[in-house]
Amino acid sequence: MNLLDKLVIPLSPEHITLLHYISMLIFFLFVPYISIVLGGNILSLFYKSKGLKENNNLYVRFSRDIIETVTINKSIGIVLGMLTLVTSILIYIQLFHNANLTAVKFLTWSFVFVAIGLILIYTFRYSSAFNDLFNSIHDYNTDDQSLKEELENYRNGSKKLTFKAGSFGLAFLLIGTWLFVAGVTVAFFTNEWNGKGYLSIIFSWPVISRFLPFLITAMAFTGATILFSFFYWDGGKKGLSDDYKNFVRRIGINLTAISSVILPIFILIDITNFPDNSYSGGVFFYLTLGLLLLFLGYHYLYVMFKNSNTNYSMHIFLVILVTIFTVIIADQTAMGNANQTQTFELAQNFENVMAKLTEGNKPKVINGEDIYKNICSACHSFDHKVVGPPYKQTLPKYHDDVDKLVNFILNPTQNNPGYPPMPNPGLKPDEAKAVATYILKEVKKYE
Ligand code: HEC
Repeated sequence: MNLLDKLVIPLSPEHITLLHYISMLIFFLFVPYISIVLGGNILSLFYKSKGLKENNNLYVRFSRDIIETVTINKSIGIVLGMLTLVTSILIYIQLFHNANLTAVKFLTWSFVFVAIGLILIYTFRYSSAFNDLFNSIHDYNTDDQSLKEELENYRNGSKKLTFKAGSFGLAFLLIGTWLFVAGVTVAFFTNEWNGKGYLSIIFSWPVISRFLPFLITAMAFTGATILFSFFYWDGGKKGLSDDYKNFVRRIGINLTAISSVILPIFILIDITNFPDNSYSGGVFFYLTLGLLLLFLGYHYLYVMFKNSNTNYSMHIFLVILVTIFTVIIADQTAMGNANQTQTFELAQNFENVMAKLTEGNKPKVINGEDIYKNICSACHSFDHKVVGPPYKQTLPKYHDDVDKLVNFILNPTQNNPGYPPMPNPGLKPDEAKAVATYILKEVKKYE
């Protein structure tokens, strides 16, 4: 891990917060993009095989239109599908290098699978267009029997290649996104999952219960994107027959409606698996906001369904997109909560580095209250539980014995069941004494 250590810079608390925000922004780009590629690829493969089996041109055309819509173009694929993941990997290295790099390893493998998956899916897209070209040549009348046979061979060959690229692409993308979800989930359980085997993480219930809502979101957003791109973007696609329009509208509305109705159930199941220390008011606020948005979405879908039109295509697209954002914010907030100890250690490391740099510059006045406010209060309060137990509950057993308390602070041991162990705050003995004296005095006010 020497190479990794070189990538790591000491982080101040402000930088850590900033990295959490950047990570959130990256997810805002990556998750919606990868969702529509995944959902679009599933639909496209499904309708291609159905269309060829039933000899139905409408399906075949739909298959090609979807994959062209969701893959947008190659540069977007590189920026939204690959650069975003690389950036997350770099951020996770900064945030977790001192604890557990399992999350980083999962994200790195996720990158490998997603990148290969995307290359195959873009191949699927371009060879699909090629296929249709062969199909039109096929209808061309010629008396030359050998030319006909040769064309037929090419046509079958290209059809097979297309299907292979599409299905392997789907398999790689599914594995890649699963590993991505696993990586993000590991970040929730940094301490508990230390040393846990990779396979038992991948197939653990918290990971599976997060992958399911991810897949369902992908389908809902794909449906909404189909409505948006066929009927709103750039004034809607031109030159579509009424039959085709009706067909696309029906698929778009049904897919979005079914997925977004079952989505909340899966999100609720998922959040019950969060570690206890990750819940907070913010998490519930954003989840509730997401739910309210979904209800608004149901309303738009219902009106479009009832009136057989597509007037709210843009609205439903935005509603689902913003719902995805709120769920990501809730998720990342919960992850931040779960990693407070972690964050504290990083910040502590930064202080040490700074202290070394500025050593000898100023004589230090040791003040117990300052130490409490700057360090301990991140995890403690006198009268209520924060990360650690309230002082008014733990200090009485020290009976004003400053030295005994100093011993604990210099060398924390696990004393309170139901709490994680306290990380060593890295104080010097005289600092520990100052803060011990201060809190023993201060706690009297809460008796
Ligand atoms: C990163 C979070 C964190 C920080 C910072 C922190 N603590 Fe703790 N503290 C905990 C946790 C968690 C526990 C519960 C551990 C246990 O006892 O099992 C704890 C327990 C305690 C206890 C109870 C010990 C006992 O015997 O029951 C005292 C006293 C305490 N901390 C004092 C301090 C002081 C003083 C500071 C500042 C110098 C500090 N803590 C900084 C997390 C923290």
